Amino acid sequence: MVKRPAFARWLSDSNDVTRTFLAAGQIPGLINMAGGLPDPSTWPVPELTALARAAVADHPGDALAYAPIEGLPALRDMIAARFSAPDLALERKNVLVTTGGMQALDLLGKVLVDPGQVIAAQSPAYLGALDAWKPRGPRYRPMRLEASGFDPVAALTGAQFAYTVPNFSNPTGRLVGLDQRRALVAAAQATGTWLVEDDPYGTLYYDGAPLPRMLALAASGGSYDGPVVYLGTLSKELAPGLRVGWVIASPEMIEALVTAKQGSDMSTSGLSQRITLDAFASGLTDRVLPATLALYRARRDALCAAMEEHLGDLFDWEVPTGGMFVWATARDPALDMDRLLRVGLSHGVCVTPSSVFDPEGRNRSAVRINFTLNEPGRLVEGVRRLAVAARATLAEAVAV
Ligand SMILES: Cc1ncc(COP(=O)(O)O)c(C=O)c1O
Repeated sequence: MVKRPAFARWLSDSNDVTRTFLAAGQIPGLINMAGGLPDPSTWPVPELTALARAAVADHPGDALAYAPIEGLPALRDMIAARFSAPDLALERKNVLVTTGGMQALDLLGKVLVDPGQVIAAQSPAYLGALDAWKPRGPRYRPMRLEASGFDPVAALTGAQFAYTVPNFSNPTGRLVGLDQRRALVAAAQATGTWLVEDDPYGTLYYDGAPLPRMLALAASGGSYDGPVVYLGTLSKELAPGLRVGWVIASPEMIEALVTAKQGSDMSTSGLSQRITLDAFASGLTDRVLPATLALYRARRDALCAAMEEHLGDLFDWEVPTGGMFVWATARDPALDMDRLLRVGLSHGVCVTPSSVFDPEGRNRSAVRINFTLNEPGRLVEGVRRLAVAARATLAEAVAV
């Protein structure tokens, strides 16, 4: 008898809902509101082409060699300067360049979690983070930040780290308020628990001024050495294909992450780092932002107006003030969102069911709807299809 070669155990423990909605991208005519993708029209293609050409021609040593594990020194300095604030003095040693924000999540799992240890995670939680940490075998302590009586000290005590997306959470689109940011930082300082501030949507504020980062709230005036670990990325601000992200943290944390990155990809693409440096230095990221905000604000409004018209009797939601998602909770618990995903596909629409944002896969009461990828007419048609699918799903549930 031939014995089969084996895989690690965590691989067999995957969720077929995720596979279903990833495969949905291939269905012709489908209106896909499941992903978290930017609209390609926001990418400044001619400017990025010029930056890419200049990076190779003028800086081949940066663009084509292996880069330092920590990132190009000039880019680390640029990021330190961009994120420094009146009381927050960041230096090169506070910054690690990563291959997207995803790599930062992966590295954090490697340096912080042994099997069975606790991650306190804002609930519902970003699917990519749950995927990144699955091989580490953590236990989760859900943090429902909006629940009355939420106690940050109790939530953080004994956890290896706390994971939050304070600006327009993926999946809920919720903004964590200033008082709660302060309370989380104070709890991290009191308990000695790392507090991860994952911030891909921090530039996507559609109404109102940006709130202070927890990183800045944790600053004490001198060189930064606090418990907040800030994760940034160029993916939503410029283009995800560059695969450039960054961690800003205490030097001790940066050193630990560098050790993990050495065994992961050795360095982030020097070409992408050089393009990023020049995009920041030339003001390109700041120049493209107003048009991106106007585009996404109009799409958010179109989606929410269509939801009001077609889904108002079936779901509850809050209009998000930024980011990429609306989180809609079914009024009738009989409306199962895993089932709605499948029925929706047969009606030509795809949204993401809440079960994938729950480490246990149990929450079937809500859906995440993306509004950044489709133009308003398609969003309206997508919502119309979703309403038909939801009524069919509910009728099925009642008939059983
Ligand atoms: C909350 C959150 N964290 C991290 C990421 C990772 O993004 P990237 O690897 O493209 O930087 C995403 C992407 O959608 C996200 O939503």
